[in-house]
Formats: sequence, structure tokens, C-alpha cells
Amino acid sequence: MRRPIGVIDSGVGGLTVAKELIRQLPYEQLLYVGDTSRCPYGPRPKEEVYRYTWEMVDYLLEKNIKLLVVACNTATAYTLEDLQNKLDIPVIGVIQPGSRAAIKASHNKRIGVIATEGTIASGAYPTALEMIDRRIRVNDLACPSLVPMIESGDIEGEQAVQIVHHALKPLKEKNHIDTLILGCTHYPLIKTLIENEMGSHIQVICSGEETAREVSLILSYQNLLNKEDVLPVHEFFTTGDKEKFKRIANAWFDEPIEFLRSIELG
Ligand code: SIN
Repeated sequence: MRRPIGVIDSGVGGLTVAKELIRQLPYEQLLYVGDTSRCPYGPRPKEEVYRYTWEMVDYLLEKNIKLLVVACNTATAYTLEDLQNKLDIPVIGVIQPGSRAAIKASHNKRIGVIATEGTIASGAYPTALEMIDRRIRVNDLACPSLVPMIESGDIEGEQAVQIVHHALKPLKEKNHIDTLILGCTHYPLIKTLIENEMGSHIQVICSGEETAREVSLILSYQNLLNKEDVLPVHEFFTTGDKEKFKRIANAWFDEPIEFLRSIELG
């Protein structure tokens, strides 16, 4: 029960899910791997994303994690089923929780999805949404310019506003959606920019909250919740620039991160 939860992402985007996990499960320790040096995963071929994802997973399995959260949509789209089939610990992705949250929020059953090229090409969101409710109409859009901008840390100012404006334009032209899924865990880091661009009539959905709820339910159902009431020190590992990672993480979390280490994968 005291074993940690593993969280993986191509970079800093999974921090948006980690924050929710920490909020909903304060006594669970997280081990977070961000493959920042090979981010973005979105434009990479499926086989490459598959290999990189398994490298992160193997790293965390050595640390005896009790549950794995794939906090990256592209990795979820390409590897979730395989990971669930091969691992003997629970594996949670972000696409189903995000889809459930959007279906709960939408009134007109017209849902937009923005994500990486890889996630959009996989068709994972329309599949997940239509599996829950076949009446849902999905408008999805790849936004390849957003992840590099977010990883650079340059997410304020006029240039960021313009990048978001151009990325979302095709979706705004089909303006009948009432709900928009941020189908990339990086995007909640610029949620305000996206909300400002889309307008207040569109509900913007981040998968973190619903993903953390699912993790909480599974841990409780499988009697895996940590029973101790000592707040843990979470451990962060990055394959890229430590200072940049720390800057983005500290701006995102309520408290500065205490443990951050550089690692090499592959
Ligand atoms: C990326 O690495 O391209 C973004 C990660 C994601 O899909 O959530």
C-alpha cells in the first residue's frame, strides 16, 4: 500500500494530471517521468511512441509502483491496451476519463477535441466518446504548434495569444460545439488562453480531475490506498533540461518540487 504511483508523460504536460492526483490523493507518493528530451510525441510514428513509453514504464516498474497513470494522450492512444494486457498492476490512461467528463458536461452532444497529430490520427477520442454515447458528434482538430510552445515555457504575452488563435481557428469556424476536450495533457497549462479564444459559451474539459477520480476509485476498490497520514515527497525525473522542468513545475504546483533528478532512457 505504501508503494508509489507511477506517472508518465512525454514532458511537462502530465504535471496537470499529477496536480489533481496530489489534490485528491494527498497521502499517495508519485514518481513522475517526463521524457522532455524527446518531446513532442505527437508527430512521432506509433512504433517510436510505443518504444519510448515502454522505456518510461520499465524505469518505473523497477521502482515497484503499484499503479501506472499514462498522463499523455498520444501514449495513451498508442499503448494503453498493450500496457493493460501486459502489466499486472492497474494502468489508467487519460482518454476515457476525459471523454466521460465531456459527456457529462455537454448539453447539445457536440464535442470538440484538440490534441496532437498522433492522438487525432488514432481516432481514440471519437471511439471513446461514441462508445459511451453513439449520438455524440465529434469535431477534432490537431494543434501541433501548442506542445512546443508550452514546453518552451513561453506561454504568456501576445505571441502565445496569436499561436492559440491560429491553432483554434478551424474549430471556431464550426462553432456549434458546446464542450471542448483538451486532448493533450499539456493544454491545461494554457487553459485560460484557450478559454479566452473559444469564448465563455464553450466548456473546456481537462482530463486530470476525472483521471484522478478513477485512480482513487481503483486504489480504494483494490485496497491499495496508503493508510499512513504522512505527506509524501514526490519524485520527478526528466530526460531533458532540469532547470526548465523545475521552472514549469514550480509555476504549476502550489508548492515547489523537492526532488528532481535527470535520467537517461533508451
Ligand atoms: C506530445 O508529446 O506531443 C503531447 C503529449 C500528449 O499527447 O498529451
